[in-house]
Order: sequence, then C-alpha cells, then structure tokens
Amino acid sequence: MKDLINRVILGDALEVMRRIPDDSVDMTFADPPFNLGKTYNVYRDSKDFKEYLEWSKAWLREMVRITKPTGSIFVHNIPKWLTYFAAYLNEMAYFRHWIVWDAMGSPLGKTLLPNHYGILWYTKRPKGFKFYDIRSPHPRCRKCKVVLKDYGGKKNKMHPYGPLLSDVWTDIHRIRHKKRRDEHPCQLPIPLLERLILMTTDEGDTVFDPFVGTGTTAVAAKRLGRNFIVVDIDPEYVEITERNLKSAKPTKLNGCYVSVYLGRVITIRDRDWERIKDAFIIPQDIKEVEVRQIKLKRGKTLF
Ligand SMILES: C[S@@+](CC[C@H](N)C(=O)[O-])C[C@H]1O[C@@H](n2cnc3c(N)ncnc32)[C@H](O)[C@@H]1O
Repeated sequence: MKDLINRVILGDALEVMRRIPDDSVDMTFADPPFNLGKTYNVYRDSKDFKEYLEWSKAWLREMVRITKPTGSIFVHNIPKWLTYFAAYLNEMAYFRHWIVWDAMGSPLGKTLLPNHYGILWYTKRPKGFKFYDIRSPHPRCRKCKVVLKDYGGKKNKMHPYGPLLSDVWTDIHRIRHKKRRDEHPCQLPIPLLERLILMTTDEGDTVFDPFVGTGTTAVAAKRLGRNFIVVDIDPEYVEITERNLKSAKPTKLNGCYVSVYLGRVITIRDRDWERIKDAFIIPQDIKEVEVRQIKLKRGKTLF
C-alpha cells in the first residue's frame, strides 16, 4: 500500500480499493456521483436504480473493510440515497451521526425544496474510535462584531471562540463563484472536509477518498498534515487535483492545525484552544448579544 500514499490515482474506485489491505486507513470519505444525470467528463451519472444501489454497496463494503478499528467512515449524498446506504452500513459498522449540511441553496422553485445534504458518520468499532471535539466561531455582525445569537439566554456561559459543533452545519457554503471553483459540477468546499478530518484523525494519519473529483479531500488532508490516498476515474479531474495539491500549504496556528477559509479560522479542536487563544482578538462584547428586531410594515415589531 505504501506506493499509494500521497498519490492521486487515476482509476476505478473499486479496483483501487481492492489493492488496499484490511484495517489500514484512518478515515474514509466518499462523495459519489448522486445518480442525478449530472454532466461529468467520463462518468455517466444515470444508472438504473438497482444498479446504482448494488454498485454503492460494493464500495461501501470496501470502505468499511479498509478502515482501521479506530477509524471513521463518512458518506456524503442526498437524503434519498443515504437512507439506503445507512440501512446497509448498519449491518457492518456503527452509526454515530447523520450530519446535516445546510449548503445554503436559493429558496426558489418549490415547497420542501431539497436544501440540505447529509453526511453519514459511522465507526468501524462501537468504542475506542478517534474523536475530537470541534468548535466553530460565533456568528458575528460583520461590521460591529457583536455576537448575533442569543443561545437561549445562555450567552454568558459560551466559549469565547464559539460553540462545540452540533450535527447541523450551516456555516460552510457551497462554492458558487466561478473564480473559486474548478471545472467540476459538484466540487465540495475544503473546510467541510477539514472539519471531518480534524474531528476524527491525527497528524500523520491516512485519509482515503474513492471519488476525489478535483481534489478537495487531498488538499484538506495536506493542509492538515495528514496523508491521503485518493482516486478518480477522470484524467482531467486527476490533473486538476495534482495542480491544487501543489499550492496547498499547512494551515497551523501556534503549532496547531486549524481550518481557515477566506482568512477566518472556521474550525478548531477544543483541546487546542489554550495554545491558540492568544492569536485571536476576542471582542469584549461577547456577553452582549444584540437582540435583532424585525419591523413589520404597519409599525408592529416581532422578535
Ligand atoms: C460527486 S463527485 C466528487 C466531487 C469531489 N468530492 C470534489 O469535491 O471535487 C464524484 C466523482 O466520482 C468520479 N467517479 C465516478 N465513477 C467513479 C469510479 N468508478 N471510480 C472513481 N471515480 C469515479 C467522478 O469522475 C467524479 O469526479
């Protein structure tokens, strides 16, 4: 397996996974094609329902097999497919969370517009898996820096940097600006992967992604000092991944890996706070939360 480490492999996910020994990578993440007829270069994203599920079961089985007993398995998809994946994974791994990623789509089109993705989190064993508490910053007014949430009246007890993350993530948006994205129909944001990696792996661990697209998982792993093994069937995406990797640099603050997006630290490990806190300017108003009033047209006010 040594020959696969820190390489972007052009090939079929299942064929590559069969070359990886049992219990050998620390974390596996898969963002497969969603079978929605998207336009990829090589892959045809419109399999028959049964065929898609059978194919998915094959790579899910391989993901669990190659993950270490201390490791985690993540699968990103739309809820429809995740219900089938979860039923299958329940037979061979341990359910931890269904993370809701609200990727902030435009509320246009229809009622009950599908507007979130799910990330299934499973572990290979029921106990003894790697897990670190992670925090994201308080949402603040861009201009005045006031914390925008009341936290149910518990604001005085809040951590100065921000809360421990729940299983609903609303602060990481899909990449929409053309200048920030590569030529790929469904590139994920790097901070999403960095969050999962910080939560479940250590420096020097190995992260595996069978459908890497333009390299999000590989870049996140490199920035956080982890190794990676990543695969894609499309030569153009492999080339873009290699290019993206060249410019990826470690993101460390006072010796601790953190996730940075557009100049802001957006995920830290709770245990790193003491070492990194002097790098932050914490506004004095942390305890003064602005109560935002919504004015109605006829002069009435709602809170
Ligand atoms: C949803 S995209 C992944 C996007 C990726 N997470 C990113 O952030 O760029 C799915 C990817 O799977 C690749 N793919 C499809 N079938 C594959 C297979 N059998 N083996 C390896 N890669 C495959 C496609 O080329 C596509 O890039």
